[in-house]
Amino acid sequence: MNQNKILKFTVISFLVFFFCGKVYSASTDLLKVDWSFTGLTGKFDRSSLQRGYQVYKEVCSSCHSMKYLSYRNLGQKGGPEFSLEEVKAIAASYEIEDGPNSEGEMFTRPGRPSDHFKNPYPNDNASIAANGGAYPPDMSVLVKARPGGANYIYSVLMGYEEKPADFALEEGVYYNKYMDGNKIKMMSPLSNDLIEYSDGTNASVDQMAKDVTTFLTWASEPHLEARHKTGTKVMIYLILLATLVYFSMKKLWSRVDSEK
Ligand code: HEC
Repeated sequence: MNQNKILKFTVISFLVFFFCGKVYSASTDLLKVDWSFTGLTGKFDRSSLQRGYQVYKEVCSSCHSMKYLSYRNLGQKGGPEFSLEEVKAIAASYEIEDGPNSEGEMFTRPGRPSDHFKNPYPNDNASIAANGGAYPPDMSVLVKARPGGANYIYSVLMGYEEKPADFALEEGVYYNKYMDGNKIKMMSPLSNDLIEYSDGTNASVDQMAKDVTTFLTWASEPHLEARHKTGTKVMIYLILLATLVYFSMKKLWSRVDSEK
């Protein structure tokens, strides 16, 4: 391949990838947020993660479990980074069932950082029975499991509207602009000033939706920051390597006489 061909090939591949990306993202009409964690160097906003945990704890955790998380994860690097003392206090605020003891009986004790997040229901059937036949999905990896990821979760939380006049809704079903078929069996979980943020931030629906979505994104991808860091290093390395190869090639071939 001569240089001209290589250049054409590169430009065409770039355009194909670029337009495929465009077509794909144009097919979803979710609300879009300029999240701090997207992009090659994206990082989580630490205070948003901490507030997001507060929203999960005070609102969502009464129905949605997050069974793959342990309280100690809340103190890990790249996450909400609560201090060890805070993590211990958070864990201890839960009553965890343990046992059996030497008499063969189950007992409860205050939670420890190594405990998994407490499940709001004893089992999935109980959660379905308590929610009018709908299963409140576990949120440990929900952001990864849904097309649209963070924007999807945010859109569902912001998507409650008055139903159109001719739209039929059964008892216990609500109109939501972004759900499949515009129906959801979860009442809008957020309303302005529903909680009081411990850092004093104004708890608007939009703010809580953004914070809890940020928290759920971290839960789905706890190593996102480390991955972005490695990615950036690899890119810098590749650029340096490519430059070096280019100049060595130029130098080597400069000794060969051109045929023309
Ligand atoms: C009263 C119980 C309850 C509370 C509180 C609650 N949810 Fe739900 N949630 C449900 C149920 C039940 C469903 C399943 C709805 C369905 O399938 O139609 C659901 C579904 C969802 C979905 C759609 C998931 C999917 O399958 O695509 C999202 C997103 C969601 N909840 C987020 C939240 C967030 C965030 C909070 C806290 C701010 C929260 N929920 C609080 C009961 C609840």
